[in-house]
Amino acid sequence: MNKFKNINPTIIVIFGGTGDLAKRKLFPAFQNLYLDGRMSEKFQIIALGRAEKSNEEFQSYVLDNLNTFSRKKGLSDPETQKFLSHITYQSFDIDKEDSYQRLNATINSFDQAFGERANRLFYLSITPSFITTISSNIKKIGLAANAKQDRIIIEKPFGYDKTSAIELNEMLSHTFKEEQIYRIDHYLGKETVQNILAFRFGNSMFEPLWSRNFIDFVQITVAEEVGVEERGGFYEGVGALKDMIQNHLLQILCMTAMEAPASLEADDIRNRKADVLKSIRRIKPDEVDHYIVRGQYDAGFIKGNPVPGYRQDKGIAPDSNTETYVAMKIYLDNWRWQGIPFYLRTGKRMEEKQSSIIIQFKPVPHSSFSYGKEGMTPNRLIINIQPSMDIKLQFMTKKPGLSLSLEPAEMIFDYFSCSTMSPEAYETLIADALAGDPTLFMRWDQVEQAWDAIDTIQQVWKTIAPTNFPNYKAGSWGPEEADELLARQGHAWIRNTQNKIKEEILDDTDIQ
Ligand SMILES: NC(=O)c1ccc[n+]([C@@H]2O[C@H](COP(=O)([O-])OP(=O)(O)OC[C@H]3O[C@@H](n4cnc5c(N)ncnc54)[C@H](OP(=O)(O)O)[C@@H]3O)[C@@H](O)[C@H]2O)c1
Repeated sequence: MNKFKNINPTIIVIFGGTGDLAKRKLFPAFQNLYLDGRMSEKFQIIALGRAEKSNEEFQSYVLDNLNTFSRKKGLSDPETQKFLSHITYQSFDIDKEDSYQRLNATINSFDQAFGERANRLFYLSITPSFITTISSNIKKIGLAANAKQDRIIIEKPFGYDKTSAIELNEMLSHTFKEEQIYRIDHYLGKETVQNILAFRFGNSMFEPLWSRNFIDFVQITVAEEVGVEERGGFYEGVGALKDMIQNHLLQILCMTAMEAPASLEADDIRNRKADVLKSIRRIKPDEVDHYIVRGQYDAGFIKGNPVPGYRQDKGIAPDSNTETYVAMKIYLDNWRWQGIPFYLRTGKRMEEKQSSIIIQFKPVPHSSFSYGKEGMTPNRLIINIQPSMDIKLQFMTKKPGLSLSLEPAEMIFDYFSCSTMSPEAYETLIADALAGDPTLFMRWDQVEQAWDAIDTIQQVWKTIAPTNFPNYKAGSWGPEEADELLARQGHAWIRNTQNKIKEEILDDTDIQ
């Protein structure tokens, strides 16, 4: 979380250096860190892919992608040209030991050029099924033999259920100690997500209200307008529960509900988050339908344009039962939150792209105003994570005029008014990994608890197929059952329209 640490000489090895994530997020992040003076004087990126390519060919491919995806672009910038000279390409086959021997020789040659053994950061930007092979070969060749200097970044998903995640972790532990493993959830690198901690624990006025005594319910939404795009093959069989709830939404829940950490040290923060995950009430198999709604989009319209249903998308089976939408009600069994519902929802092909947290406060105990109830909106605190990046406090005021009637008003803190060039999530996270700061990465017990929290749902959904898919239209806010989930408790999803002007200037290449 501290971006101003000294970074030691480092060799960064990107497995999957030719892939989609590397081109859209990783190289732009390294370039921006370099341009901002946050890379060591001595660093080299070794990008791996199967094809034979020269360094020049690969550097020119990276430059093209920087011009498309980097927030600072790159064409004709001499500093970016210097950055490119720090990139080496090597053809590599994950399954062949010989590739690791050649990689070892390349790493050693850079160590020699640096005049010291550099730190090593292995970035696994590949399909998770390769993790075991890569990790065991790294051990065999001794590529990450120094526990103090060598780290590995693992992309999500970490496993596909609790059992597979435990196996994966056990296997990784043969090569890496826990403190060397950086499990990424890029949501945690977003400025507005980190700001939740600053907002909650840097102010005294909100924290006394932050509990079951004053809060009625909390809603966390991560909605996408896009469908599966080119990633149908990946998404099919994964679904929204594993792709979004198990990681991003549960992490946002942790930031919203955690107790104050004793310090900003990584383990103090991660201990408090792990407490939240442990306190999630585990539901029984016969309660799944009561607490969780799953959905799949049908054809519809997004911003007036027709779009196909999920089952008609590329790479998707025509009878697929993969869920593209999940809404759930969560209770936290602890002193602060007992009895307060946390409503989480995520979906593809929603009416509007938005990630937000809405805290609704309890109504006034007695209203002295005799002008009808229609004007009595409860107090709300809305934290918009993206595309709007703001915090809104909604409250009632007197409507100007002779009569004493009320109308809702709001105060807004707008992140854009502070900076329009805040770092991208991957910049923040990579800077932290280079500096050896794991605060914003997932510790193993957090991952395990997050899988455990959805384990029963996964088991039940595996055995009982949905009977009503597709059950929501593209361009809507999801299936009707999701409204009923809240209506049973007298609640409703709150409409939270995003600021369109800002959406236009935001990076539209965001990933989930
Ligand atoms: N893309 C995203 O939006 C996104 C978002 C969040 C998380 N992630 C995660 O990031 C990881 C990478 O995703 P991606 O979308 O970048 O995947 P991708 O575009 O399919 O790239 C896969 C990479 O793996 C390499 N590869 C495949 N087989 C190989 C082999 N046998 N030997 C050596 N290299 C091999 C490919 O290299 P060649 O084809 O050049 O050989 C390519 O560079 C995944 O874990 C994914 O879940 C991706």
